Formats: sequence, structure tokens, C-alpha cells
Amino acid sequence: MKGIILAGGLGTRLFPLTKITNKHLLPVHDKPMIYYPLQTLVNAGIRDILIVTGGNNAGDFLRLLGNGKEFGLQHINYTYQEGEGGIAAALFLAEYFSDQKKICVVLGDNIIETNILNAVKDFEKQESGAKILLKEVPDLQRFGVPEIKGDKIIRIDEKPAMPRSKLAVIGIYMYDAGVFDIIRNLKPSARGELEITDVNNEYIRRGNLTYEILEGWWTDAGTFESLLRASNLVAQTGAINYNISHRAHRDHRE
Ligand code: G1P
Repeated sequence: MKGIILAGGLGTRLFPLTKITNKHLLPVHDKPMIYYPLQTLVNAGIRDILIVTGGNNAGDFLRLLGNGKEFGLQHINYTYQEGEGGIAAALFLAEYFSDQKKICVVLGDNIIETNILNAVKDFEKQESGAKILLKEVPDLQRFGVPEIKGDKIIRIDEKPAMPRSKLAVIGIYMYDAGVFDIIRNLKPSARGELEITDVNNEYIRRGNLTYEILEGWWTDAGTFESLLRASNLVAQTGAINYNISHRAHRDHRE
């Protein structure tokens, strides 16, 4: 499976922190934000990774990460998104890289406590379709929220005023190669974006979306409140999952 990290956007919810840099380069406790999704993919055994970025600071990702040596990688792929267009529009830029293989997409501001290795292995066995991860959260109105009947998701609402479950769709998505044709046929939403929730709803319509509930904590880091929460969670509990880069970083300095 190939990995894709979406790290573009203007980060307007974090202005003025994002006035002169990209959101995903901001600190979360002791590391730049982008380190966490990258480590999430590496911990899941994914080595072939593309970072989609944009804006004025794209070159800083290359300066920071290089070929990914600190993460035990030999190479990182980069691509550049001109302007903004939503998560699905950013993902569309990965079509050439994905090369008809299954992909695991991680939003660059999503940080997890545990490992997605089992979900990735399950999706490798899944013949086709998509898999998403869910987590119970208190502030459902900020996220995609599924309605579940029996053991199936029957719809996902984006930022619902009246959530139909207690679960949020987290920013880690697994897709088969059909995802790019789905994106090609998407229409922009009311906020003018190609929504990842519309992609997932299309997989539901085809009866081909599975899900798992994530163990351990999850947070995004795209608002002042969640950025602070992310730093606190990593500081309190997060060291276990991210100790590889700690060690690599030490080795790098020595
Ligand atoms: C996006 C998705 C939403 C998902 C969330 C996870 O929201 O649209 O469905 O629950 O990421 O972080 P955004 O961060 O763009 O508001």
C-alpha cells in the first residue's frame, strides 16, 4: 500500500501562526506537526509516501524532511497543490503516484496515540472499496459524522448540526484505485470544495465502505484549541508511538 499525507491549505483557522509558514510545520510538543502523520504511516509498514503541499512554504518540507532518513526511509515523494480546493482536490494530485495501488491517506494535522497497522492489514485483504476510521468525540459538529445501522455505515454528514452518532470520521482513509474516478465526478460543495465526505458517501452507495473504531486518543490540530490539545496529549502520553523518530533524531545529531 502507498501512503499520502495531505499537508496543503492556508491554515486560516490558525492565523496569524500560519501567516508566514505552513500549518503542518508548526510545533506539536517537541516536533513539527508533519512528523506525526509521517510516523503513523511508517509505523503501519508503509514506506512509499507522497506529501502533497502548497502555498509559499512548500520548499521548507524538503528542507525539514529531505529523503526521510530520520524515519528510516530512503526517499519521500513531494507534489505541489496550486491554490485550494478541499481534501479531495488535494488527493486527486496523487493519482499518478498511486499507480493503481491501494492508498492510505492521512491528513497532515491528524495525530493518533496508537497504531493503524491492523486496519491497514485488514484493508490489504479487502478486495476493493474503502475503509475509514472512527472515534468518539465530544465536538461532533466539527467533523464528518456517520449514521450506523447494524454493522454498516449508511451515510456520513459533514459537520452536522444534528449528529446521527457519537463518532467522528477521523482523517485517515484507505481507498482502492477507483477513488480517482470518484473524485473526477465530484461536484464542489456549498463551501466550494471537493469534499472527502462525498467520496466516502459514494463508497457507501456502492456498498463498499468498511470501518474500524480507533483505539487510543485521536486529535486534529487545526484550531488553537486542538493544537494545544495535541501538544498536551503528546507530552503526556505520546512518546511510545513516536520514539523511533526521537531515536533517529538523536542519532542524526551525534
Ligand atoms: C476534515 C473532513 C472531516 C473529518 C476531519 C478530520 O475536516 O472534512 O470529515 O472529520 O477532516 O480531521 P476539516 O479539518 O477540513 O474541517
